[in-house]
Amino acid sequence: MDYVRVAKAADVPPGRMLAVRAGGEDVVLYNVDGTLHATRDSCTHQNYPLSKGALHGKYVKCALHFWEYDVTNGQYQGNPAVCVRRYPVKVEGGEVWVGLEPLPPAPRPLVSRDDA
Ligand code: FES
Repeated sequence: MDYVRVAKAADVPPGRMLAVRAGGEDVVLYNVDGTLHATRDSCTHQNYPLSKGALHGKYVKCALHFWEYDVTNGQYQGNPAVCVRRYPVKVEGGEVWVGLEPLPPAPRPLVSRDDA
């Protein structure tokens, strides 16, 4: 797991959220009662940015069609089998770090019989 520094903890006070970039990914930080959580900044419905929605307690509501997610586990409240991607978060020295999975290795190029 690679951690990327994305913000200062003071930039995300309790009850607020903040859109950030982490290693080329759009991520939203949420402060729920002093604990930070992070999800992909993309609704699973039609990919609208969740950062344009509203945070109420531990729930973020998408601004486009009002799907609501629990940011502590990523579950869509209309169907818990549907989840928005979450990221591990840690705070060190007043800085917020988001954990990203390393990219999978690039696929081997295809070789035709003519190239072999
Ligand atoms: S795009 Fe989020 S609810 Fe439709």
